[in-house]
Amino acid sequence: MKILFVCLGNICRSPAAEGVFLHLLEQRGLGDQFVVDSAGTGGWHVGAPPDRRMQAAATRRGINLPSRARQISIDDLGSFDLVLTMDDANLSAVRSLALEAGPQATATIQPMLSYSRRFSETEVPDPYYGGEAGFEHVLDLLEEACSNLLDDINSVESAKPPQPPEPGTPSPAR
Ligand code: 4NP
Repeated sequence: MKILFVCLGNICRSPAAEGVFLHLLEQRGLGDQFVVDSAGTGGWHVGAPPDRRMQAAATRRGINLPSRARQISIDDLGSFDLVLTMDDANLSAVRSLALEAGPQATATIQPMLSYSRRFSETEVPDPYYGGEAGFEHVLDLLEEACSNLLDDINSVESAKPPQPPEPGTPSPAR
């Protein structure tokens, strides 16, 4: 499954979501089942690493943020299965891009916090112009929502009937 996390600048929230999700995959031994990336609706920071305040907050929780900023493209909406947006402005921007793309936009587009159960907030607030507590709060929101997201995906996958083997796959030894 291919998941793209999206925010405005791709240097704070969505790289944090990508890092949190990758960290969970590693903890649960599921890394080979997912492609995970992040992007911004804006292009100001293309090529930049995550904001150093976001990196510091993530490092304190043992989470690495490997991304380099890039801007979302129309092609992303055909190549990713799920696009998760951090706030309402990101959601509108991605939905507009999907309208522009037409039928090639096959990705499911959802707010990241539609996976939150513990928090009542519906948007991950932009921490860029605030203090350290804002970065910690972003991680609190993302850790909970990403954990629920992975649980939900796993429960859907495990409810599916067994798939027939690909042609040419050897049968299991008896
Ligand atoms: P992000 O935060 O969308 O979470 O990456 C921002 C980073 C930079 C800017 C805005 C938001 N900026 O205006 O440069």
